Amino acid sequence: EKVPVKIYPNDTEASLDVAKRIAIIIKQKQAKGKTAVLGLATGVSPIKVYTELIRLHKEEGLSFKNVVTFNLDEYYPIQPNSAQSYVRFMKEHLFDHVDIDMANVNIPDGTLAEQDIAAFCMAYEQKINSYGGIDVQLLGIGRTGHIGFNEPGSAPNSGTRLVTLNNLTRRDASKDFGGKENVPTKAITMGIGTIFKAREIILLAWNGKKASIIKKAIEGEISPDVPATYLQNSDNVEFIIDRDASVDL
Ligand code: GLP
Repeated sequence: EKVPVKIYPNDTEASLDVAKRIAIIIKQKQAKGKTAVLGLATGVSPIKVYTELIRLHKEEGLSFKNVVTFNLDEYYPIQPNSAQSYVRFMKEHLFDHVDIDMANVNIPDGTLAEQDIAAFCMAYEQKINSYGGIDVQLLGIGRTGHIGFNEPGSAPNSGTRLVTLNNLTRRDASKDFGGKENVPTKAITMGIGTIFKAREIILLAWNGKKASIIKKAIEGEISPDVPATYLQNSDNVEFIIDRDASVDL
């Protein structure tokens, strides 16, 4: 049985819909005096979702006071104030523009000493669990088929951990870093197992460059060679893609 796929005419319409769904979850939790737990992604794909959430905050009074966030991943090593850090990305594209309490924001720490990473990762998982798990997890997809930074070879039950980045992933990141040699060789990422625990998973993919990996992810044999294929085993996933990303399906 195929995973649910919703194809939109373009990424703008799709992103508005996704933002609306997230806003509904936030408001439903608010009404019950509860916390909404969002799993967030970086990259180009979710930017318009964040832009719409900012608009909903500024123009329609959507509040993030009851929102706790966990980001999928971060380069390692990296300083939070460096131009390419995911801390910087999230502030620029969302957190600096809404009323979220920064104490409720969680992003893997790219500044840790290597010997402290395993304990950090375990605490990250425990913290997600302590909030009752992630309500909705946003995902992009890399051209290697990675979700988060779960590169080919990642195990289906993997947890948050330090990983080595794939060559193609580093090449794709090289323009952000002004050369591949400047792209960190490692990252800290939530695992496939961590992502699977989310009550709802939304994978976003736009434009023709993603068409071939989207086909593999949705129609390919489930395999560690393309970690996004694991999502075929989830009952809670939806692929939200635009027409251009759908052309090979
Ligand atoms: C990076 C991120 C992933 C993201 C991927 C795709 O590698 N770590 O989480 O899904 O890029 O990015 P984009 O949305 O820019 O295509």
